[in-house]
Amino acid sequence: MIVDRTHRRWVAVCLAALVVATAVYVPYHLRSLNGPTGGSWLGLLYGFVGYGLMLFAGALGVRARRPTWRLGRAETWLKGHVWLALLAYPLIYFHAGFAFGGPLTVVLMALFTIVTLSGILGVVLQQILPRVMTDRVPLETIFEQLDHVLEQMRGEADHLVMAVSDPEQAAAVAATATVGQRPPPSARRAQVRAEIGVAALPTEEAQALKEFYDNEVRPYLYDKLGRAASLNNPAKSAVVFAQLRTRVPASLYHVVDDLEAMCDERRQLRVQARLHHWLHAWLLLHVPLSVALLLLSAAHAVLALRY
Ligand code: HEM
Repeated sequence: MIVDRTHRRWVAVCLAALVVATAVYVPYHLRSLNGPTGGSWLGLLYGFVGYGLMLFAGALGVRARRPTWRLGRAETWLKGHVWLALLAYPLIYFHAGFAFGGPLTVVLMALFTIVTLSGILGVVLQQILPRVMTDRVPLETIFEQLDHVLEQMRGEADHLVMAVSDPEQAAAVAATATVGQRPPPSARRAQVRAEIGVAALPTEEAQALKEFYDNEVRPYLYDKLGRAASLNNPAKSAVVFAQLRTRVPASLYHVVDDLEAMCDERRQLRVQARLHHWLHAWLLLHVPLSVALLLLSAAHAVLALRY
């Protein structure tokens, strides 16, 4: 969700509600001899409205799981979720008269604070990360297809190098792939390379490329070398590939270029996976704690009204 001008009405309404709630609270606080309590009429009203807004915020979880129900636009729900939950926070302080009370209410306020802060963090991340993603990951892939894209890229890289170091086998693989099905682009590419005569290359130079592939590129593409891999760093990667070009003939440069482009793509996919992770990781805190908050708040309300 991006906070933009369409949020102005929500912000204005919530700010107006906060001003009214504060204007009522201040004289009530000043006039209460023993300090305001949640059990007074005004205290109960703040608690009732605040908890209502919290329940509405929690209903977003139900709405998200029932996208086909005609319950209004998802965007409107999100705006309401963020701004009404933020309004609920000071209202609950007014309900409690800024006193933390016993252990249950201390836990409740701690939970509410964490849920609110994690929600704010989520909104901030949703503002920043999509922009970072577009800047840093021009090759953005749909996250759900990431594994598939990776698998294809790895297969393509294997075939590409095989076409140089072992063209016969590459041609055989490409031929097998044509039985009953269209060969994958990687295999077709390998076949073409085999046909145009890369086989004629001196094996020593082809072996240098294969060795480089086996030691550096393949482990990187297959995630065998963590983040410290030199190919994970754009500057180091450029140096490593420049060095490789001095060791292979110019006729192999296009293969080196392809491998370099694949490593670049792998790097971008890693960044994308990391950003995607951060974009959702905060929900692991926000959602379970918000459920606990709503349940404990209900328990608190029942206990307080009964005894
Ligand atoms: C009583 C307080 C709150 C409760 C009970 C609550 C509950 C929830 C729940 C259950 C979800 C998950 C929805 C889903 O399943 O997709 C959610 C998501 C979210 N919450 Fe809250 N929340 C509260 C406060 C806040 C606050 C104060 C903010 C921000 C200032 C916030 C921002 C968000 C955002 C951005 C999402 C992700 C929505 C999306 O992109 O799908 N929440 N919240």
